[in-house]
Amino acid sequence: MREIRIAMIATIDSGVGLSYDNVLVTGGAGFIGSHTVDALLEKGRFEVWVLDNSSTGTERNLRRWKNNRKLHFRKILRAVAN
Ligand SMILES: NC(=O)c1ccc[n+]([C@@H]2O[C@H](COP(=O)([O-])OP(=O)(O)OC[C@H]3O[C@@H](n4cnc5c(N)ncnc54)[C@H](O)[C@@H]3O)[C@@H](O)[C@H]2O)c1
Repeated sequence: MREIRIAMIATIDSGVGLSYDNVLVTGGAGFIGSHTVDALLEKGRFEVWVLDNSSTGTERNLRRWKNNRKLHFRKILRAVAN
């Protein structure tokens, strides 16, 4: 299994100062999240991982990146609580 280093960002700094290759955007199909994804993918140097349960957001907000291999959208189907 390939190890993935993931940066979790809390600002829309667009990852300018990040030394990571992979960025996780939770809620990335929503309003703020999809604009964060736009800003990161426009940089061209990040693999962007989106986790979203589509409760209020939609994958359509990311449609401009549909064929971009640096975007990895994963829909959360159900939460697991212990
Ligand atoms: N055109 C506009 O100006 C405009 C449009 C939309 C929203 N807004 C404003 O933006 C703000 C809301 O934006 P936002 O981005 O915070 O909200 P959002 O609802 O757009 O985004 C939240 C995202 O998180 C996801 N999500 C929620 N719970 C989750 C969970 N447990 N696991 C995984 N994913 C989960 C949702 O599916 C959604 O995609 C509000 O102030 C609203 O008024 C403005």
